[in-house]
Amino acid sequence: MKISGKSVIPASEITPRALFEQRRHFMQLALGASAGLLAESVFAGEKLPATLSEAYGLTDKLTPLKDVTQYNNFYEFDTSKEGPAKLAGSLKTRPWTVSVEGEVRKPKQFDIDALLKLAPMQERIYRLRCVEAWSMVIPWLGYPLAELLKQVEPTSEARFVEFVSLADPEQMPGQRKPVLEWPYREGLRIDEAMHPLALLIFGLYGEMLPNQNGAPVRMVVPWKYGFKSAKSIVKIRLLKQPPVTSWMQAGPSEYGFYANVNPAVDHPRWSQAKERRLGDFLKRPTLPFNGYAEQVAGLYVGMDLTKNF
Ligand code: MTE
Repeated sequence: MKISGKSVIPASEITPRALFEQRRHFMQLALGASAGLLAESVFAGEKLPATLSEAYGLTDKLTPLKDVTQYNNFYEFDTSKEGPAKLAGSLKTRPWTVSVEGEVRKPKQFDIDALLKLAPMQERIYRLRCVEAWSMVIPWLGYPLAELLKQVEPTSEARFVEFVSLADPEQMPGQRKPVLEWPYREGLRIDEAMHPLALLIFGLYGEMLPNQNGAPVRMVVPWKYGFKSAKSIVKIRLLKQPPVTSWMQAGPSEYGFYANVNPAVDHPRWSQAKERRLGDFLKRPTLPFNGYAEQVAGLYVGMDLTKNF
């Protein structure tokens, strides 16, 4: 467990080179883009001020920005890792609204710019462990999802939360193929969604999210495999029953609803015991709940995690 109460150096101070590279990347994008795309590209690189959340500081080495933004899973654009960075320029992130509805007393549509100001923006350095056995350490910018859910007043019937990503094959060329059932849908149990580690994310490395990382707003649930963290969210529904997620629909024996990072339960086609940190040569052991057991193991007391994988 690497989480400490000590202050850590803000990512923005220890990664000037990476930030410089990202800016250069966006400038190149902007220079090559048509007038219409220009505004988007510049916007994606805009600064997003935040306060470092010291309670969640990690001492792990940060994953280079280049890997974070050029090695992605975003099937709405492409199933390769390099594709999303090349193709996501067509995603229009303004105007954008997120509708929060279902088992709530006050359903509401939030404009993205209002959502950005809903709660104090925090910088949190989290591990993200992909089900494909690679991982990253990323300085995310956002705030707990609980801040948003509080606003709509979930009813006592609200036991699950569903996240729905954008569906628009015009903007998302990968959706022209039936790789997954679109729109991308994910879900959490309400207590997982309300946990202070579960974040609504708007940026990384000091700036607004690049499109390929899920702009303008996504989830990050660090103790679960990366696929639970839906990108480019347009709808959040509170439900009585667990939602059927896109991955469960695609492969129910491979992708469970819980998807907690668990080195003791292998994926049917590969081991989950180890992972490769992007940028590293050697693999490292995978930690239960991705290293966040101290904070979240209590959510699963009494559950058989080999059955509820
Ligand atoms: N969200 C949507 N809408 N579509 C996707 O294909 N891929 C998931 C998750 N969220 C995905 C998604 C997977 S498998 C991972 S590992 C993470 O996003 C990757 O996030 P990153 O590209 O920011 O590292």
